[in-house]
Amino acid sequence: MVKYIDPSAEIGEGTLIGRFSVIYENVIIGSNCIIGNNVVVHPGAIVGDNVRIDDNTVIGKQPMKAANSAVTKEQQLPAAKVGNNCIIGTSVVIYSGSVFGDNVLVADLSTVRENVTVGDYTIIGRGVAIENFCKIGSYCKLETNAYITAYSELEDRVFIAPCVATSNDNFVGRTKERFKYFKGITVKKGGRIGVNATILPGKVIGEDTLVAAGALVTSDTPPRKIIAGVPGKVFGDVPEKQLLENQ
Ligand SMILES: CC(C)(COP(=O)(O)OP(=O)(O)OC[C@H]1O[C@@H](n2cnc3c(N)ncnc32)[C@H](O)[C@@H]1OP(=O)(O)O)[C@@H](O)C(=O)NCCC(=O)NCCS
Repeated sequence: MVKYIDPSAEIGEGTLIGRFSVIYENVIIGSNCIIGNNVVVHPGAIVGDNVRIDDNTVIGKQPMKAANSAVTKEQQLPAAKVGNNCIIGTSVVIYSGSVFGDNVLVADLSTVRENVTVGDYTIIGRGVAIENFCKIGSYCKLETNAYITAYSELEDRVFIAPCVATSNDNFVGRTKERFKYFKGITVKKGGRIGVNATILPGKVIGEDTLVAAGALVTSDTPPRKIIAGVPGKVFGDVPEKQLLENQ
């Protein structure tokens, strides 16, 4: 069936590639992968062994810079890299310059922008958007439709519930001064953010802290506390049984 595999691409033994897929020059795909239909793998991208990539997914997309874009810069990016045993769902877009560890799952319709790193065993749920220059640790879980703003860091074993919103610009798109203050959020190891919570620019969620459902985080939070309300205040301690060290 019609598909295009550039002669310079290296395809490992046992790898299957579906109909209408395009594998560009200098791509390296490992062995025993299952690549679906209409998948596009852009030049130089590296895909490990035993990787599943479902229909309509794009690996290694080049960033788009709008004529009046404030932050996206023209840049030469390294190729995208997907580690061994990853599962990448349907209609996922992974940009160039993003690097995934091993055993990562990315669910349908998610987008991971350029210059993002994702650690081993992390799950990126359906429709999650991870903006550029984010660092996502290992064993994290990001659930459906979570939004991770640019320049954020999630350390290992962080949990982000559905529809969590994060932000990086307190000047909300006005003034030149804002460029000095752009800052993503940080979630320390084991931090958990409940459904539909909002985190303001630059805020740091302490280690093993739980931000309650619907909270608005307006200041850095201490470790191992529950933060709830608008604005978020300490609501109590994270129960002993829930602490990361007791799992
Ligand atoms: C933090 C949390 C665990 C508290 O639950 P809880 O200890 O069972 O709290 P309770 O239901 O006993 O409520 C105790 C009081 O706090 C209030 N309260 C509970 N959750 C609140 C919240 N998220 N924000 C503000 N107030 C809250 C209740 O109204 C109640 O007030 P009252 O005593 O005046 O009636 C819960 O709010 C939460 O955020 N759960 C996370 C859900 C989630 O996002 N899961 C992600 C995976 S889907």
